[in-house]
Amino acid sequence: MKEKVYIFDTTLRDGEQSPGASMNTAEKVRIATQLEKLGVDAIEAGFPASSEGDFEGVAEVAKKVVNSEVVALARASDHDIDRAWKAVSHAARPKIHVFLATSDIHMQYKLNMSREEVLKSAVDAVKYACSLTDNVEFSAEDGSRSDPDFLCRVFEAVIDAGARVVNLPDTVGYAVPAEFGDLVAYVMKKTPNIDKAILSVHCHNDLGLATANTMAAIENGARQAEVTINGIGERAGNTSLEEVVMAINTRPTSFPVTTGIETTRIYRVSRLVSMITGIMIQPNKAIVGANAFAHEAGIHQHGVLQNPMTYEIMKPETIGLTSNRLVMGKHSGKHALRDHLKNIGYDLSEEELKQVFKKFKELADKKRVVLDEDLEALVNERVLRTADIYSLTYLHVTAGTTVMPTATVKMLIDGSEAVCTGSGNGPIDATFDAISRLTETRSSLLRFSVNALTGGTDAQGEVTVRLKEDDFIALGRGADPDIITASAYAYVNGLNRLEYLKNNPPRKAESL
Ligand code: KIV
Ligand code: ZN
Repeated sequence: MKEKVYIFDTTLRDGEQSPGASMNTAEKVRIATQLEKLGVDAIEAGFPASSEGDFEGVAEVAKKVVNSEVVALARASDHDIDRAWKAVSHAARPKIHVFLATSDIHMQYKLNMSREEVLKSAVDAVKYACSLTDNVEFSAEDGSRSDPDFLCRVFEAVIDAGARVVNLPDTVGYAVPAEFGDLVAYVMKKTPNIDKAILSVHCHNDLGLATANTMAAIENGARQAEVTINGIGERAGNTSLEEVVMAINTRPTSFPVTTGIETTRIYRVSRLVSMITGIMIQPNKAIVGANAFAHEAGIHQHGVLQNPMTYEIMKPETIGLTSNRLVMGKHSGKHALRDHLKNIGYDLSEEELKQVFKKFKELADKKRVVLDEDLEALVNERVLRTADIYSLTYLHVTAGTTVMPTATVKMLIDGSEAVCTGSGNGPIDATFDAISRLTETRSSLLRFSVNALTGGTDAQGEVTVRLKEDDFIALGRGADPDIITASAYAYVNGLNRLEYLKNNPPRKAESL
């Protein structure tokens, strides 16, 4: 029987550290629910000591998830470990993840601690965490740049103290595959009690090598991979779940191991994470990018038609991409919509379905056929989006070759309706002017991008904005067949996210 590689997903913790990607509690719970269905072994839901928002997010995920472990991150201190345990203790399968840096550069300049002090703190912290639960992981932060013998000493000591998993992170994305694979092999050989624990790896993508490093680690004995959906994460991101899982699935002789991942759910979860965080997936992204299975060149198309395996190394269906995505039109009924939504992963309540159905009919009036991507955008943005302060109720824009663009906007602000007009050098500028006057917000627009959700001139436009106010950065997303309306939705979504961030300041990178 093949050995299992455990999939530890940190989309909600390390992934959330992507600039602008912070998620509210309800969004975290929605993603966690889908991760559980995807079959991940562990869901790292946050870092409870870093902020109230993180604490609440972990606690709510812990209440909801039963099949996957729910993990809370903690520095090597009693205070952090207590917060982590308080947030996660009611989970069906709770886990505490303690970390402390082991590289000379981190110990000297960040921690101001000697090797012996770090060793003792790591052991004390793991012992304390183990007094609360027997499910404890220890991470040697900046492990890839640590002295290998010291790393092995620390791992040996924390395993003796009760850690079930020891994790070797390439925190700064500096490692290269052959060297990282060798380091994993060294740790497997030189840590005397490594058979009592699982060796995990956690790679960052600064050199674009996170997946390659993770695969090299698996070849050399690592049996847990820490990953995020779409590879989101700090700076250039983390190893992406879909790449590791599909490499294992597609190359079983090179990687004779298994995972518990239900691959047909990959595409769906990838879209959900992109939709919630506002982080677009680059078109050429492996596995889940829009072009990953598109064969443009004539010679490729011919070959694929004769036999898909000429150019396709994976079947699109394996990740849940079906070719019969043409779904519904304006005559489709509520039951058909419910069944179809269930098929693509949305099990809605009667009330939610009622709302979706109404919006679906409006969309189907504007657009001949409604595709899965349209439905996803509609469900995620108009129905499941949680309690917003601002919502757009009306937009009227005048623009053209000879008139000054103006916009009239009506919004609900904390439940009360207000109206305002604005002007600008184009219809979107005018709309944004009206919205910012009405909400009396003073964010600046760092980025604005438009994308077509599907093909055809009646496609919905998908707009992403990046807003900044003081130290806070938020992404906003909106979709509609009218790109000015989509832009207004995106802007309002960004403002709601900024409000959320101001009330729930995110963890700072330096707290890690
Ligand atoms: O990159 C890193 O070292 C981390 C640890 C907290 C595991 O995210
Ligand atoms: Zn990390």
